[in-house]
Amino acid sequence: MPGRTPGRLHRAVCPGSFDPVTNGHLDIIERSAKLFDEVVVAVGVNKSKNRLFSAEERIEMLAQACAGWDNVRVDGFTGLLTDFCQEHQIDAIVKGLRAVSDFDYELQMAQMNSSLAPVETVFVPTSPEWSFLASSLVKEVATFGGDVTGLVPEFVRELLLKRLAERESQ
Ligand code: PNS
Repeated sequence: MPGRTPGRLHRAVCPGSFDPVTNGHLDIIERSAKLFDEVVVAVGVNKSKNRLFSAEERIEMLAQACAGWDNVRVDGFTGLLTDFCQEHQIDAIVKGLRAVSDFDYELQMAQMNSSLAPVETVFVPTSPEWSFLASSLVKEVATFGGDVTGLVPEFVRELLLKRLAERESQ
């Protein structure tokens, strides 16, 4: 990579399903953008039956939410994350850790990923204010009429309520 300093990590990926993006995700992305020259937010678009938002919708939401950060771009990926990393000259995978319970599986994935490709996983502790936050919980709370204001960007909250209303009327 031109201008690359040996021994330094330059381009990182923040991968996830982001169904939908939460303020916890955005906190990790913003802090990653301060640590690395470039950050690619990679939206996993492998087939899954249980998504509320399509791949295109999730990518568009991320693009809007990350528009203010110059060194952050958003992309989708299918297949293995390590293949995406190699195709895009990415040398670090950033994962947020909310609690010790996240660690077991994340460690396993980090070790598997490093066995597949020369990529480091960097764990970033979630800010305490978001340590309870998960997309699945946001969807569940909103489904049953709970208020998710402040947990996701306002435009995401509106899209979430709209999608849930559409599902309800089907
Ligand atoms: O937001 P999520 O659902 O926790 O994100 C999980 C994701 C997309 C980062 C993870 O499932 C992933 O990396 N999937 C790509 C497939 C892959 O590389 N699997 C091997 C992992 S060791």
